[in-house]
Order: sequence, then C-alpha cells, then structure tokens
Amino acid sequence: MPDRSGSTGGLPFPAGFYWGCATSPAQIEGATASEYAGFRARDGATPDDGPDHWTRWEDDLQALGDLGLNAYRIGLDWGRLQPAPGAALAAEPLAQYREMLARLRARRVEPFVTLFHFACPAWMAEAGGWLHRDAPAWFADFARRTADACDGVRYWITHNEPVVYALMAYIIGEFLPCRRHRPDLALRALRHLRRGHAQAYAAIRARRAEARVGFTKHFKGFQPFRRWHPVDVTTSWLARLLFDRWGTAGFLHHRGRQVCDFVGVNYYGRMRMKGLSGVSPLTGWSPETLARMGAVCDDMWEQDPRWLADCLAELAERTELPLYITENGVATLNEDLRTHYLREHLRGCADAIGRGVALHGFFYWSLLDNFEWSEGLSKRFGLLGVDFGHPDKPRTLRPAAHLLADAARRNALPPAGD
Ligand code: BGC
Repeated sequence: MPDRSGSTGGLPFPAGFYWGCATSPAQIEGATASEYAGFRARDGATPDDGPDHWTRWEDDLQALGDLGLNAYRIGLDWGRLQPAPGAALAAEPLAQYREMLARLRARRVEPFVTLFHFACPAWMAEAGGWLHRDAPAWFADFARRTADACDGVRYWITHNEPVVYALMAYIIGEFLPCRRHRPDLALRALRHLRRGHAQAYAAIRARRAEARVGFTKHFKGFQPFRRWHPVDVTTSWLARLLFDRWGTAGFLHHRGRQVCDFVGVNYYGRMRMKGLSGVSPLTGWSPETLARMGAVCDDMWEQDPRWLADCLAELAERTELPLYITENGVATLNEDLRTHYLREHLRGCADAIGRGVALHGFFYWSLLDNFEWSEGLSKRFGLLGVDFGHPDKPRTLRPAAHLLADAARRNALPPAGD
C-alpha cells in the first residue's frame, strides 16, 4: 500500500505522486519531419496549422511550470532527430530538445520521454514503416543514441499505444499509411513493434542503469451495448481479451525476459459494442442520441469514470509493475464537462490507490489543443486552449488547469467547491 502522506486536505494521493500533462510531437510541433508532414485531416488541416509548439515551446513550458505540475510527458520527433536509418542525431533539433529538458528540470518537472507516438520518420515510411524487417533495429538504434544524448532522463516510454497504432494504420485505415482491412499487416507491424520495444528497452537500460523503461497502452472499457445479446456479449469479451490482455502481455515480456519497468495507462472512456462496431460519437452516434440513452459523451467517446479504477485494479492483478495514467482527457469546448471529467477520473485514481494499486502518476491529455490525427483541429483537449485562427496562435488557460494545479499543490483531489 503506497505511503499516502504529504497531502493537505481533500482526497490524498501517495507522497511523490507525479502530476502532469502529456503531448506528442507530430500533434503539436508543426514543421514535422515525420510522415505526417503535409497530411490533410478531414477538416482540411495539416499539422502545420496546429499550435506551432516548435517555435513557441518556451511559453508553453513556462505555462506548465507556472501551474506547479511536477511531470511532463514529452515526445521526441524521431524523423526530425534522425535524418536516415542509423544516422547520428541532428545537432540543431537535439540541442533544442536538450534545452527543453533542461528547462523542465530547472522547474523541477520530471520528464517522461516518448520515443514513438504514431508517426514514423518520412524515410522510414517510404521504406515500409513498421512492416520493414529492419524497423526494430532502426528503432533500437534511435533509442540508444537518444539515451546517450539526453542526460538526466529517468522515465522512457518506447511506444505509445502500439495496438491502437497497428489497428488504425492497417485495419481501420485512419492513421498513415491508411491501409484498410489488412489484419495480416497489422500483425506484422505489431510483431516488429514488440521486437523494437524489447531491443530499445535493452539499449536504454544498458546505457543508463537508473532508467525506467515502459510503454503506454490504451484501455477502453469494452462492454456489451445490449447486455442480453450474445453477439454484443461475445464481441466485447473478445475485444477485452485481445485488445486489453493480449495487447499488453506482449510488451511486458519478450522471449521469457521482462522488458518493461512500468506500464502507462491511457484511458478516455468506455466503448460499448453493438455487433461488430462500437457505439460512440466517432462511430456515427450523435451525442444527442447517446444523451437520450443516459450516456455522457464528449466530441469523441462515451465517458465512464467509474471503470477507470476497475481497469487499474484488473491490470494490477496481472502485473506488479508500477502504473501511471499517461493520458486521460476530454475533447470538448464545454469547460464544466472538462472540469467534471478531470475530477471524476482523479477520484477513480484515488479509488484504485485505495484498493492497493501501485499508481504513481497522472498525466492529463493534453497540455494544449493539438492536431488530432485524422480529426484535425476540431477536437479540443487542451488545458491551454489555442486560437488556431489567429496568426500568433494565442493560448488561454482553461478552468480544468486550475483544478489540476490545485491537486498538484495539495497532492490530493481538492474537495468539490473548494
Ligand atoms: C493518443 C493521442 C490522441 C488521443 C485522443 C490517444 O489514443 O495517444 O495521440 O490525441 O488518444 O484521441
């Protein structure tokens, strides 16, 4: 049971708990050297129309530090850093990333560094991306060079949501390379992602004894839409088995060796299965229809904060590794909904900790409004809102940011109304 001292008022969290937020490079930086350069989303936007963090990073990190958060999940743009397979890291971007990391440390913000978040370098995409048989070795080389170059980083995340990536890139076809209905390719990519994770784990640990290396996994809270319907019951059971269980196990061990020091849990809400498809605003159900059925939704998914504690407890039964919520957030412009969502999910975390789960941190998704892959700029997750229509892309602090800041300051979920 974690030590729960160090908090002042409200629902206490364990001492040393990390309070942070998360981003990914292709979604915020602009001028990416990844395969997403020039990618046009449904709404016509490209990553360059996003928040332009690569040139505005100082103000953004200043805002993060001013909130008093003690952790930040930062991603590195592999394509920007490594212009060719096996090449030395490019000096200029490396200097900027190192400066960013130094700035975080100066504000006592612990960086959690993500190495692959859905976006292959352009050269790798041309060569076949994660389908290429050398992809794991390319990735391990990138991890090794990055670990050599970045002093003082303790927490490393190899892949973000590898199962989601394989599904979206090769079955659903919404992420590059946008192939559809190719489970064979999804499985091949996943095999290489697993190998790449294991090799990167070994490379980083060999260089930095103090490093902790993990990956993040998306959990979905699959449930049958019609509790009595055998098809819905079977598809949701299968989805849990394949997506949650099998999709996690392969990244914890490889060829009998442990290749993971912690698991990052990304959780947004539940997915109720109706036949073969999920019920959510993203699969064509209108939020109004769902609201009439009693469901609370944001612009993408149905919310279910109560399931978060169950999800964490279930995972903790299968692994004793430390857990972190590495993403949890809401796509909305309804700020009451955002604040309520954050509060209820922090309550879920406290509940899980009370049940003995070794949860050590919470990262809200996202620090700022960003480029939401095929959805473009319309889905607003940020603690900092961004005015994309203005040439200076000004940022505005949203109310939920104050709740997270207050929680970080107290190391506790503040009582409602405080
Ligand atoms: C991904 C993020 C994405 C978020 C919201 C997560 O699955 O890691 O890149 O922006 O979901 O859709």
